[in-house]
Amino acid sequence: MSSTSAPGKIDENAVPGGIASGEHRYHFAIDIDGEFAIFTLDTHGQVETWNAAAEHITGYGASEILGKPFSVLYPTVSADVAVPSDILARAVTTGRAYYEGWHARKDGTRFWASVLVIAQRREQGDLAGFAAVTHDYSQRHLIEAKLRRSEQRLQAMIDSVEDYAIFMLSPTGEVASWNTGAQRIKGYSAGEIIGRHFSVFYPPEARAAGLPERMLETASTQGRSEAEGWRIRSDGSRFWADAIITPIRDEKGALRGFTKVTRDLTEHKRLEQLEHVGELAAATERAREEEKKRIARELHDDLGQRLTALKMTAVILQQEVEAGHYNPETAAQARGLVAQTDDTMSAVRRISSALRPTMLDDLGLLPAVEWLADEFSRRYGIKVNTRLSAGELEFSDTAATAIFRIVQEALTNVARHACATEVVVTIELENNECEVRIDDNGLGAAPASCDKPVSFGLLGIRERVRQLNGFAWLGNKPDGGFRVQCRFPIDAIVRR
Ligand SMILES: Nc1ncnc2c1ncn2[C@@H]1O[C@H](COP(=O)(O)OP(=O)(O)O)[C@@H](O)[C@H]1O
Ligand SMILES: [Mg+2]
Repeated sequence: MSSTSAPGKIDENAVPGGIASGEHRYHFAIDIDGEFAIFTLDTHGQVETWNAAAEHITGYGASEILGKPFSVLYPTVSADVAVPSDILARAVTTGRAYYEGWHARKDGTRFWASVLVIAQRREQGDLAGFAAVTHDYSQRHLIEAKLRRSEQRLQAMIDSVEDYAIFMLSPTGEVASWNTGAQRIKGYSAGEIIGRHFSVFYPPEARAAGLPERMLETASTQGRSEAEGWRIRSDGSRFWADAIITPIRDEKGALRGFTKVTRDLTEHKRLEQLEHVGELAAATERAREEEKKRIARELHDDLGQRLTALKMTAVILQQEVEAGHYNPETAAQARGLVAQTDDTMSAVRRISSALRPTMLDDLGLLPAVEWLADEFSRRYGIKVNTRLSAGELEFSDTAATAIFRIVQEALTNVARHACATEVVVTIELENNECEVRIDDNGLGAAPASCDKPVSFGLLGIRERVRQLNGFAWLGNKPDGGFRVQCRFPIDAIVRR
């Protein structure tokens, strides 16, 4: 406001619909602010008073404009310009009229402005004239035009993005805009998808779990939500996507909708899987080497020793026989020879069973697990309880081998790492699942040792479980000891 401002007067006279009587209405023409052109018109619409801002904005000096019609302030009438006489007529009938649009300067240039025209009446009620306030918006108009242009540029940029689906959702999740990337990634054209609920992008299981609603809920309460998972294209095919949803709010904070940016990570996911396969192949190779080493050791240390002893007994017997000795001692040696041969044979059986227990093929999984438990107990002196109540189930060969190996690996770990005195092996059916559990009462694993990258034991268990669509939990029990727990959907493990 300038130093000559007199806001009190303005309050008195410029209140819309305010009644000014007689001479008072001329006080209206006070220069309150450089921005407002304030002037009065007589009942015919001719300019009666004029302020400095009016001169500044329009270029007309007071002497030039006084007595001229109000219409000189408007460009020659065209479609986008108001008819000045309409504005006055409206002010006469309703008390006031507001117009925002093009105005004309003295030099003929246009400017964007608002005008509020107030009809002024005498106490008797007859028209005394009009008071008008004009605000020059050309600056604002330019800014808005600039904003519109930059919005258009932003929209054009969003439209042309191909690698990201960028679109807007209504507050309830209906698609409100669409870009080229969205069309490329999801397969819908704008016409097909705008107005439909965005849950069509989610697979049935995610929809059933309420994921789309949860995404909006989280975005609106926490300012953002992000999720990675399988999504559905318009042709029904799946793609792996990462999506971020952010809320759009107006100046008062009310939710106006959401923006959603989705990236297609299918290729990325495939590479990740390939990497996983690569790692697994390397781990398998290492495990195979380990296994060969173990067999070589057993053949050398166990079977080799027995064969050496057998040979020594046989040589002594041969010498005795060649010397013509047939006495009780020779008979005992011959019996020893037979016993050692039996031992050796059972060692061969044990070693070969560890490689592929024939029991698994001949008797089935549960008896093979019983045998494994017996063997283990005998060999390591650790008590094993078996609770095998899945007898009615006919396991597929793949499942039987996998479960046998899981139990075998878990027991080997108990012997190697647990310092346990007792193990419980459970295989039971529950609802539509089969649970395999190996619990020991040992020391448990040190933190993080379960995901040692170089060891294949627990990793192998996880991998076998994964291949049968199951879940595996490996770790310490709250009451001490270690637990290997696997759960398989029955569908995935029965013989078909
Ligand atoms: N029953 C168990 N009790 C204690 N620690 C265990 C048990 N099973 C596994 N672990 C820990 O988990 C680690 C990883 O096991 P695993 O992958 O089989 O590798 P490895 O047996 O070759 O060490 C073991 O080194 C051990 O520290
Ligand atoms: Mg191991």
